[in-house]
Amino acid sequence: MHTEKDDIIPSRPEPIELGASEPGLVVVSKKSDKPDLAARLLAGDQLLVSDRFSTGMAILAELKRQVFKGQKKENFIAYREKRSEFYHASNRLLVPIKKGKIALKKAPEIGWLEKLYPDLDEFLLSFPQVQGLNSSWQWYLKGIKYPGLKEKIHPYYGTYFPTRFDHLYLFDKWLKNYTGLKRSAIDIGTGCGVLAFQMLNRGFENVTASDLNPNSIISAKEHAGKNKLSHRITVIQSDLFEKVDYKADLVVFNPPWLPALKDTEGLDSAIYFEAGLFERFFDHAANYIHDNGRLVILFSNLAESEGVTDLHPVKDELEQNRRYKKVNFQKKKVKGSSKKTKRRDHRKKEFVELWELIPV
Ligand SMILES: C[S@@+](CC[C@H](N)C(=O)[O-])C[C@H]1O[C@@H](n2cnc3c(N)ncnc32)[C@H](O)[C@@H]1O
Repeated sequence: MHTEKDDIIPSRPEPIELGASEPGLVVVSKKSDKPDLAARLLAGDQLLVSDRFSTGMAILAELKRQVFKGQKKENFIAYREKRSEFYHASNRLLVPIKKGKIALKKAPEIGWLEKLYPDLDEFLLSFPQVQGLNSSWQWYLKGIKYPGLKEKIHPYYGTYFPTRFDHLYLFDKWLKNYTGLKRSAIDIGTGCGVLAFQMLNRGFENVTASDLNPNSIISAKEHAGKNKLSHRITVIQSDLFEKVDYKADLVVFNPPWLPALKDTEGLDSAIYFEAGLFERFFDHAANYIHDNGRLVILFSNLAESEGVTDLHPVKDELEQNRRYKKVNFQKKKVKGSSKKTKRRDHRKKEFVELWELIPV
């Protein structure tokens, strides 16, 4: 099989091991006074739910009421502060986990607990962490049918997977019309592997898919294995091209679309790009493309349409450095943006973009 050693350790929500929790941990149940408990979470106490899953849900609902009372979403800065307050307080509400299951009555079954914590018998997680695991488990069980792929993708926990498909339609159409050689391709920042599998499906013989995130590597390998594609895909954990050692006919990159601002909380490297990412990418990409090969970058004017910045890393590269030449550019209006633009008519419409470049 064409893959790295199978010893990749997935990232997981940090468990609180018993004994390591705050000495002042307060045990709560259905009968406890919810407004008082919500106030205690806000004051910094850690609470452990001891009876039913629904007790935790009720405490969170009360906390939400206390934090957001009367706060309008339109007041962006005040709302963001409230969200941060809710985030910190809700993470002090803890859930007991025993032998791969939530140790509360009427709790959801979450397969990730067994898969991600085989080393721990008993520990605690926060309620929001458990909710995140539960939602991810539902996506994993159900899978997602993507444009251009016959088989659904079942994204592994913590892996980026698109929930809007505009850029996937754009790329698949581009692939359909692509007439160049199809011996090999490289997908940088593969996430759940969707672009890599689209390329295999459109006749590329071999694809290397890379991502920094270990969970993405597991996800893409799992899909390849289930669909008998492992001999045509090499999945590697790598910072951009760091571990790639050959040239390909096509390099594709669907990068994060938003610049990381200094105060971005819980920064997600699938969504936000740190300063220098594009400079590093363009410094190296040309070395990994065969003569007559292509570089395709999928991007969006999201940062601009959301009023975050007018800077555009692909346009900047083309204008400032003259290392690449644009041979084709396509864009597609994002579905559903008309509703959005009604509410925010001062903002521009959202488009996804496909930039086809060649090194010069
Ligand atoms: C917007 S997602 C795209 C995922 C997938 N290609 C798709 O189109 O759905 C960006 C991906 O780039 C990865 N990424 C971010 N910085 C990276 C880096 N320096 N090297 C490799 N991958 C990176 C993220 O982990 C994430 O999976």
